[in-house]
Amino acid sequence: MERSLSMEIARVTEAAALASARWMGRGEKEEADGAATEAMRTVFDTVPMKGTVVIGEGEKDEAPMLYIGEEVGQGQGPEVDIAVDPVEGTNIVALGTWNALCVVGIANRGRLLHAPDMYMEKIAVGPEAVGKIDLDASVEENLKAVAEAKGKDIEDIVVVVLNRPRHDQLIKEIREAGARIKLIPDGDVAASINAAFDHTGVDVLMGIGGAPEGVLSAIGLKALGGEIQGRLKPVDEVQEERCRKMGIEDVSKVLKMEDLCGGDDAIFAATGITDGELLQGVQFKGDKATTETVVMRAKSGTVRFIDGTHSLEKKPDLVIKD
Ligand code: FBP
Repeated sequence: MERSLSMEIARVTEAAALASARWMGRGEKEEADGAATEAMRTVFDTVPMKGTVVIGEGEKDEAPMLYIGEEVGQGQGPEVDIAVDPVEGTNIVALGTWNALCVVGIANRGRLLHAPDMYMEKIAVGPEAVGKIDLDASVEENLKAVAEAKGKDIEDIVVVVLNRPRHDQLIKEIREAGARIKLIPDGDVAASINAAFDHTGVDVLMGIGGAPEGVLSAIGLKALGGEIQGRLKPVDEVQEERCRKMGIEDVSKVLKMEDLCGGDDAIFAATGITDGELLQGVQFKGDKATTETVVMRAKSGTVRFIDGTHSLEKKPDLVIKD
């Protein structure tokens, strides 16, 4: 993949964030998602690549745009797999709280897990703890290993967990191990990526979230030199069958980085919609709006933070019409 694709992908997430941020705090999560999806789809058409959406807004019959299998891009250039989440944290935008992101990840064709829309158990860490985690190990063993790798006491470790009843036992075990917890209402991609940035104060993400979000996190962590392990969590026979159709014979298998995002080349971009530990959200200032984006490329290990200022006079479509 050409390095210039990084900037192109950042333009895609910026456009989506600008569109969905107009819906912040308005209690309309579908509208926020729809606006981001439409903006993302429009800008993708200007990107010189032959892209296929492998993780997107759903199956063809349920999503009008950015559905799984949809071809996007100008139709010339590198052949890539694309994972998109126009709004990672639709409820977050609807409520105007923390860490909603527009996210895009790309990798060479065939390199991304075609993750079905189901749950995945995950553990994610930044570079210092790579090779030290094991989804099959106990919570305490993992936390001890991360603490040791980071040169901290276990009491210093902060674990991010989605605040869900299904995590009651996990939360109990983390507390018994002595670590601290940040419970979040939504948004485990941001939590996984934050684990690779020391200043966010996040050390580990643990728990069950979306499988597509697991793949997106893997793309980001590949570029950041971090690690995520996942295990699909089908809730019934139908979901198990879906896994097998996607080529996953052993559904209980621990999926490693190579399974989630293979090869050494991948690009990840995320723009903040609302404020978070890593990225500032969109701010509207009359005829201008600002964005903050992180874009990174696994091949070179380059991580860039891009502050964007966008003229709304020249983009009247960003002015909400209702
Ligand atoms: P949406 O933006 O699709 O609402 O996803 C938000 C999210 O919190 C993800 O970050 C997470 O992986 C997943 O939902 C968890 O699912 P659930 O809300 O069913 O527990």
